[in-house]
Amino acid sequence: TVTAILVTVGAYLVGSIPFGFLLARFWKGIDIRQYGSGNIGATNVWRTLGKGPGLIVLVLDMLKGMAAVLLAKQLANSDPAVLAAALAVMAGHSWPLWLGFKGGKIIATGAGAVLAIAPLPLLLAFLVWLGTVALSRYVSLGSILAAVSLPLWMMLFKYNQPTLIFSVLVAAFAVWKHSSNIKRLLNGTEFKIGRK
Ligand code: G3P
Repeated sequence: TVTAILVTVGAYLVGSIPFGFLLARFWKGIDIRQYGSGNIGATNVWRTLGKGPGLIVLVLDMLKGMAAVLLAKQLANSDPAVLAAALAVMAGHSWPLWLGFKGGKIIATGAGAVLAIAPLPLLLAFLVWLGTVALSRYVSLGSILAAVSLPLWMMLFKYNQPTLIFSVLVAAFAVWKHSSNIKRLLNGTEFKIGRK
Protein backbone atom coordinates (compact mmCIF):
# COMPACT_ATOMS: atom_id res chain seq x y z
CA THR A 1 0.00 0.00 0.00
CA VAL A 2 2.91 2.37 0.60
CA THR A 3 3.93 1.64 -2.97
CA ALA A 4 0.36 2.30 -4.13
CA ILE A 5 0.31 5.67 -2.36
CA LEU A 6 3.70 6.66 -3.78
CA VAL A 7 2.59 5.60 -7.25
CA THR A 8 -0.60 7.66 -6.93
CA VAL A 9 1.30 10.75 -5.79
CA GLY A 10 3.83 10.19 -8.58
CA ALA A 11 1.00 9.92 -11.11
CA TYR A 12 -0.47 13.18 -9.86
CA LEU A 13 2.91 14.92 -10.27
CA VAL A 14 3.37 13.51 -13.78
CA GLY A 15 -0.14 14.67 -14.67
CA SER A 16 0.71 18.09 -13.32
CA ILE A 17 3.28 18.71 -16.06
CA PRO A 18 1.37 21.23 -18.20
CA PHE A 19 2.78 20.46 -21.64
CA GLY A 20 0.39 22.80 -23.46
CA PHE A 21 1.26 25.69 -21.20
CA LEU A 22 5.01 24.98 -21.33
CA LEU A 23 5.13 24.61 -25.11
CA ALA A 24 3.19 27.83 -25.71
CA ARG A 25 5.25 29.69 -23.10
CA PHE A 26 8.76 28.61 -24.04
CA TRP A 27 8.41 27.94 -27.74
CA LYS A 28 5.96 30.64 -28.77
CA GLY A 29 6.30 33.05 -25.86
CA ILE A 30 2.60 33.31 -25.06
CA ASP A 31 0.40 32.41 -22.13
CA ILE A 32 -2.03 29.95 -23.71
CA ARG A 33 -4.52 30.61 -20.92
CA GLN A 34 -5.19 34.03 -22.43
CA TYR A 35 -6.18 32.72 -25.87
CA GLY A 36 -9.16 30.91 -27.33
CA SER A 37 -10.96 28.85 -24.73
CA GLY A 38 -8.22 29.60 -22.19
CA ASN A 39 -7.58 25.89 -21.84
CA ILE A 40 -4.06 24.43 -21.72
CA GLY A 41 -5.02 21.38 -23.79
CA ALA A 42 -4.12 20.25 -27.29
CA THR A 43 -7.35 21.59 -28.81
CA ASN A 44 -6.69 25.13 -27.68
CA VAL A 45 -3.00 24.96 -28.58
CA TRP A 46 -4.00 23.78 -32.07
CA ARG A 47 -6.61 26.54 -32.31
CA THR A 48 -4.16 29.21 -31.18
CA LEU A 49 -0.78 28.07 -32.51
CA GLY A 50 -1.62 25.58 -35.25
CA LYS A 51 -1.60 21.92 -36.06
CA GLY A 52 2.06 21.09 -35.26
CA PRO A 53 2.08 22.47 -31.71
CA GLY A 54 -1.41 21.05 -31.16
CA LEU A 55 -0.36 17.55 -32.19
CA ILE A 56 2.78 17.71 -30.05
CA VAL A 57 0.71 18.64 -26.99
CA LEU A 58 -1.81 15.90 -27.81
CA VAL A 59 0.95 13.28 -27.96
CA LEU A 60 2.77 14.51 -24.84
CA ASP A 61 -0.41 14.70 -22.77
CA MET A 62 -1.43 11.23 -23.93
CA LEU A 63 2.04 9.89 -23.14
CA LYS A 64 1.99 11.24 -19.61
CA GLY A 65 -1.37 9.56 -19.02
CA MET A 66 -0.08 6.30 -20.43
CA ALA A 67 3.25 6.54 -18.59
CA ALA A 68 1.55 6.96 -15.22
CA VAL A 69 -0.56 3.84 -15.76
CA LEU A 70 2.29 1.72 -17.12
CA LEU A 71 4.45 2.76 -14.19
CA ALA A 72 1.69 1.82 -11.77
CA LYS A 73 1.37 -1.57 -13.47
CA GLN A 74 5.12 -2.12 -13.06
CA LEU A 75 5.47 -0.94 -9.49
CA ALA A 76 2.17 -1.85 -7.86
CA ASN A 77 0.54 -4.51 -9.92
CA SER A 78 -2.94 -4.36 -8.43
CA ASP A 79 -6.14 -3.25 -10.11
CA PRO A 80 -7.03 -0.58 -7.52
CA ALA A 81 -3.52 0.91 -7.59
CA VAL A 82 -3.53 1.12 -11.38
CA LEU A 83 -6.99 2.72 -11.47
CA ALA A 84 -5.99 5.13 -8.70
CA ALA A 85 -2.90 6.13 -10.66
CA ALA A 86 -5.05 6.70 -13.76
CA LEU A 87 -7.40 8.98 -11.82
CA ALA A 88 -4.41 10.71 -10.22
CA VAL A 89 -2.70 11.52 -13.51
CA MET A 90 -5.99 13.04 -14.76
CA ALA A 91 -6.36 14.94 -11.49
CA GLY A 92 -2.81 16.24 -11.95
CA HIS A 93 -3.60 17.43 -15.45
CA SER A 94 -6.80 19.02 -14.26
CA TRP A 95 -5.44 20.59 -11.06
CA PRO A 96 -1.72 21.01 -11.74
CA LEU A 97 0.45 21.80 -8.77
CA TRP A 98 2.56 24.16 -10.89
CA LEU A 99 -0.27 26.27 -12.33
CA GLY A 100 -2.26 27.17 -9.24
CA PHE A 101 -4.39 24.04 -9.72
CA LYS A 102 -5.99 25.41 -12.89
CA GLY A 103 -5.47 22.89 -15.64
CA GLY A 104 -7.03 21.00 -18.50
CA LYS A 105 -10.06 18.95 -19.40
CA ILE A 106 -8.45 15.47 -19.18
CA ILE A 107 -9.33 14.26 -22.67
CA ALA A 108 -5.83 13.60 -24.03
CA THR A 109 -4.38 12.62 -20.66
CA GLY A 110 -7.39 10.42 -19.94
CA ALA A 111 -7.18 8.82 -23.38
CA GLY A 112 -3.54 7.88 -22.75
CA ALA A 113 -4.37 6.47 -19.32
CA VAL A 114 -7.43 4.52 -20.50
CA LEU A 115 -5.54 3.24 -23.55
CA ALA A 116 -3.14 1.50 -21.16
CA ILE A 117 -6.04 0.01 -19.17
CA ALA A 118 -8.75 -0.80 -21.71
CA PRO A 119 -7.56 -0.32 -25.32
CA LEU A 120 -10.70 -1.58 -27.11
CA PRO A 121 -13.16 0.61 -25.17
CA LEU A 122 -10.81 3.55 -25.72
CA LEU A 123 -10.74 2.83 -29.45
CA LEU A 124 -14.54 2.85 -29.62
CA ALA A 125 -14.71 6.05 -27.57
CA PHE A 126 -12.22 7.56 -30.00
CA LEU A 127 -14.48 6.59 -32.91
CA VAL A 128 -17.37 8.36 -31.14
CA TRP A 129 -15.13 11.41 -30.77
CA LEU A 130 -14.08 11.28 -34.42
CA GLY A 131 -17.62 10.84 -35.74
CA THR A 132 -19.00 13.62 -33.56
CA VAL A 133 -16.24 16.06 -34.43
CA ALA A 134 -16.53 15.25 -38.14
CA LEU A 135 -20.28 15.84 -38.12
CA SER A 136 -20.61 18.72 -35.67
CA ARG A 137 -17.19 20.43 -35.92
CA TYR A 138 -17.27 20.78 -32.13
CA VAL A 139 -14.24 19.17 -30.47
CA SER A 140 -15.80 19.62 -27.04
CA LEU A 141 -18.99 17.80 -28.04
CA GLY A 142 -16.90 14.93 -29.37
CA SER A 143 -14.96 14.80 -26.09
CA ILE A 144 -18.14 14.84 -23.99
CA LEU A 145 -19.89 12.11 -25.99
CA ALA A 146 -16.74 9.99 -26.14
CA ALA A 147 -16.34 10.22 -22.37
CA VAL A 148 -19.99 9.39 -21.75
CA SER A 149 -19.80 6.40 -24.09
CA LEU A 150 -16.78 4.92 -22.32
CA PRO A 151 -18.73 3.02 -19.59
CA LEU A 152 -20.89 1.44 -22.31
CA TRP A 153 -17.81 0.09 -24.08
CA MET A 154 -16.45 -1.16 -20.76
CA MET A 155 -19.68 -3.12 -20.31
CA LEU A 156 -19.60 -4.37 -23.89
CA PHE A 157 -16.13 -5.81 -23.39
CA LYS A 158 -17.04 -7.15 -19.92
CA TYR A 159 -14.48 -5.24 -17.88
CA ASN A 160 -14.68 -5.86 -14.14
CA GLN A 161 -16.72 -3.73 -11.78
CA PRO A 162 -13.87 -1.54 -10.45
CA THR A 163 -12.92 -0.65 -14.03
CA LEU A 164 -16.55 0.08 -14.89
CA ILE A 165 -16.89 2.37 -11.86
CA PHE A 166 -13.60 3.99 -12.84
CA SER A 167 -14.96 4.72 -16.31
CA VAL A 168 -18.11 6.28 -14.85
CA LEU A 169 -15.92 8.54 -12.70
CA VAL A 170 -13.81 9.48 -15.72
CA ALA A 171 -16.95 10.30 -17.72
CA ALA A 172 -18.38 12.45 -14.94
CA PHE A 173 -15.04 14.18 -14.43
CA ALA A 174 -14.69 14.94 -18.15
CA VAL A 175 -18.24 16.24 -18.51
CA TRP A 176 -17.81 18.43 -15.44
CA LYS A 177 -14.54 19.88 -16.79
CA HIS A 178 -16.40 20.79 -19.98
CA SER A 179 -19.06 22.85 -18.21
CA SER A 180 -17.90 26.09 -19.86
CA ASN A 181 -18.06 24.29 -23.23
CA ILE A 182 -21.55 23.01 -22.46
CA LYS A 183 -22.70 26.56 -21.74
CA ARG A 184 -21.21 27.72 -25.04
CA LEU A 185 -22.75 24.78 -26.92
CA LEU A 186 -26.15 25.64 -25.49
CA ASN A 187 -25.98 29.33 -26.35
CA GLY A 188 -24.41 28.73 -29.74
CA THR A 189 -21.04 30.38 -29.08
CA GLU A 190 -18.83 27.29 -28.92
CA PHE A 191 -15.72 27.26 -31.12
CA LYS A 192 -15.99 25.20 -34.28
CA ILE A 193 -12.95 23.72 -35.95
CA GLY A 194 -11.86 25.29 -39.16
CA ARG A 195 -12.92 28.71 -37.94
CA LYS A 196 -11.28 31.29 -35.66
O1 G3P B 1 -10.12 18.26 -25.01
C1 G3P B 1 -10.60 19.51 -24.74
C2 G3P B 1 -11.68 19.79 -25.74
O2 G3P B 1 -12.71 18.87 -25.56
C3 G3P B 1 -12.21 21.17 -25.63
O3 G3P B 1 -11.16 22.12 -25.67
O4 G3P B 1 -10.19 24.35 -25.88
O5 G3P B 1 -12.36 23.82 -27.00
O6 G3P B 1 -12.28 24.02 -24.53
P1 G3P B 1 -11.51 23.67 -25.78
